[in-house]
Amino acid sequence: MIRPTSVDIWRLLLEGLVDCAPALRWCLSEGEIERADRFIFERDRTRFITCRAILRGVIAQNLNIGPADVVFAYGEKGKPYLEDWPLFFNLSHSHNEACIAIHPNAPLGVDVEHIRPPTRNNWIALAQRFFSAAEIQALSDMPERLQSKAFFACWTRKEAYLKLHGLGLSLPLDQFSVNVDPDAPAKLCSSEWCPDDLGRSTLYDLPTNSGYRSAIAIATTDPVTIHETCISGIESFPFFKRV
Ligand SMILES: CC(C)(COP(=O)(O)OP(=O)(O)OC[C@H]1O[C@@H](n2cnc3c(N)ncnc32)[C@H](O)[C@@H]1OP(=O)(O)O)[C@@H](O)C(=O)NCCC(=O)NCCS
Repeated sequence: MIRPTSVDIWRLLLEGLVDCAPALRWCLSEGEIERADRFIFERDRTRFITCRAILRGVIAQNLNIGPADVVFAYGEKGKPYLEDWPLFFNLSHSHNEACIAIHPNAPLGVDVEHIRPPTRNNWIALAQRFFSAAEIQALSDMPERLQSKAFFACWTRKEAYLKLHGLGLSLPLDQFSVNVDPDAPAKLCSSEWCPDDLGRSTLYDLPTNSGYRSAIAIATTDPVTIHETCISGIESFPFFKRV
């Protein structure tokens, strides 16, 4: 029997963390500081710095190095990864939550979304822009009161799969389908884009605060246990002590 591998999920509650951004800048690279300084809105800058610094901290802790010593490489559509270390991670942020996922030997993608009302359109009209035919049908068949929850369940599962592959929207969103039922376990139902993925990747929904939805896609079918740590303040982070 294969023993389950632990996926570490770090859930960041950003409201209590963004004030720490000035104190965390030191561990970012020159390129990251330049990127931070290009944000027009202070709110976006502090969120980027906070998430990137904590991502560095979490990776550094796994590798037993300092946060400033983590060196990121980037895929052709910008997915960050580690060139020299066998550790896989992905990050997502939305409104006041962010999520970092770490797996020791399988690539992954994670997404978190703040559940919000549809702007101008209804959920079905939005789904027609982003979802596959099977997903649109499944969403249309749901009672209207469940549609916003179902929309974000579908969206986060799809986005997690997209982020696993790191290809952004060059992976066509109508060329794979996930399940839409928000109360059923996440599932990759089909992938015309890469049929082999059905036998080698797995989707999971992740815990969130109410008002959010989150999912992860992992490139393995081996069993995993999800180990979640919630971070609402920086005090508890020994890895940010500067040495
Ligand atoms: C990055 C991308 C994959 C997701 O963007 P997003 O939803 O705004 O952002 P998230 O917060 O979930 O993820 C951003 C993080 O993912 C990582 N990332 C960046 N590019 C990535 C890529 N190509 N693949 C995977 N992860 C990526 C980075 O860590 C980034 O954090 P940073 O901005 O602090 O550097 C974007 O390029 C994209 O293609 N979005 C598609 C959106 C869409 O229409 N989805 C429909 C789903 S149904």
